[in-house]
Amino acid sequence: MEYAVKSGSPEKQRSACVVVGVLEHRRLSSAATQLDQACDGYLSQLVRRGDMDGRQGQSLMLHRIAGLVCDRVLLIGLGRERECDDRAFSKAIETMDAALRNSGASEATCYLSEIGVKGRDVFWRIRTGARTMETLQYRFDRLKTGKGDAPGVALRRITFSVPSRRELGDGDKAAREGHAMGRGMNLARDLGNLPGNYCTPRYLGEQAGDLAARHPRLEAQLLDETAMEELGMGALLAVSRGSQEEARLIVVHYRGGDNDTAPYTLVGKGITFDTGGISIKPSASMDEMKFDMCGAASVFGTMQAVAELELPINVVGIIAAAENMPDGRAIKPGDIITSMSSQTIEVLNTDAEGRLVLCDALTYAERFRPAAVVDIATLTGAAIVALGHHTHGLMGNSSTLVNELLSAGKAAGDRAWELPMGDEYQEQLKSNFADMANIGGQPAGSITAGCFLSRYTRRYRWAHLDIAGTAWKSGDQKGATGRPVALLSQWLLDRAC
Ligand code: BES
Ligand code: MN
Ligand code: ZN
Repeated sequence: MEYAVKSGSPEKQRSACVVVGVLEHRRLSSAATQLDQACDGYLSQLVRRGDMDGRQGQSLMLHRIAGLVCDRVLLIGLGRERECDDRAFSKAIETMDAALRNSGASEATCYLSEIGVKGRDVFWRIRTGARTMETLQYRFDRLKTGKGDAPGVALRRITFSVPSRRELGDGDKAAREGHAMGRGMNLARDLGNLPGNYCTPRYLGEQAGDLAARHPRLEAQLLDETAMEELGMGALLAVSRGSQEEARLIVVHYRGGDNDTAPYTLVGKGITFDTGGISIKPSASMDEMKFDMCGAASVFGTMQAVAELELPINVVGIIAAAENMPDGRAIKPGDIITSMSSQTIEVLNTDAEGRLVLCDALTYAERFRPAAVVDIATLTGAAIVALGHHTHGLMGNSSTLVNELLSAGKAAGDRAWELPMGDEYQEQLKSNFADMANIGGQPAGSITAGCFLSRYTRRYRWAHLDIAGTAWKSGDQKGATGRPVALLSQWLLDRAC
């Protein structure tokens, strides 16, 4: 989909569809009022008659209204004006998308960007509008042989209105940012949704190569198991031992800043399927463990967004890709392994594999002398217990970095919540036989996982996002969400200016 920005009154738009809001209790928004005046009060009449009262989720498509030059007018219910917040705005965009689908309109001019949203400016509304529209177009049907539900006339372009010509420049930038974020989320969803028999560590490596080939400022570098052995990545390789698929350490460089400026570094957990290994998982819902590489997918999505926006910063993406399988060669509970940092780990549960692949990737990150490192991982079921499916778990060793990520999440509608860390929790990782155990027992499972990682991140500013509850949806809407690409891209956008 294309996104554009325009200023000008709604009654003058020669568009296939002009989209305007109606507030609850039958109040026309200002764009709707302008249209209404040009068509002799037709809209206010409809609203008075009760065809539309402005509740959230309502929509009404009108055709060929006398006095107007557009083909259609789409009225969107916005709810109460005082309650118009982020959620209400997204809901309005969703309602618009549903009404435009199969409407026959191939483009639309949207005045919802001029609706007042609590604490948000027109720039935010356009960025969010473009991103939401882009993610609403997403379908995963590449493995279905049927034709799918392709509409007769496809929607190709949304033009958002800005109040005056002065906002055109910023509006255009907002639309480009929203578009890139949405595309980044959709890329992450594609990789996440692709099952384990397609999406292997090797496949992820190839995808990194393809992504880099599409953008001049990106470069991909792949380390195979031999290269990782030479580096002493005993923890990552231990996870991969039981699998027929070779592990990969994937490094993607984005060079948009000066050569000597420190890169922001993203490290993604890329377990392409997590059976649990010898500590095997129960079979119910095990299919969802194909999503255990969604952290890696979010690194891909974010790197693509950064490259499309040509941000003037340096970014390194590191993906620890492996498959966790039970096998005669697999690691066993009680085995002691040596990580690249030379710290030893007693593997008490082979299902706590994410931290094992990440710890070596985090040690590897040191060589880039990063400005900050953020790892992203579907790390613990306990994150779902603590936070449900709405907010990412966040921990870190720098309050500045943690606060940057918290506010990026708020701005992007992709929220994180900080969990505490500390020596009390570190004690739970004590082992009688090695430097640490890979599990810390039942209590505070997400925090002890974060504590484990903190032992590998002492040389730089670091934060950890546990996306176990947020990276995908279960049930009839089963599928990857593309989170936290919006948070991460927003964070990097903020760093770039
Ligand atoms: N990938 C899982 C975490 C997970 C589970 C994410 C369910 C989303 C839904 C991770 O590798 C794992 O198995 N973690 C264990 C850790 C435990 C053994 C300490 C868990 O959460 O049960
Ligand atoms: Mn696991
Ligand atoms: Zn896992």
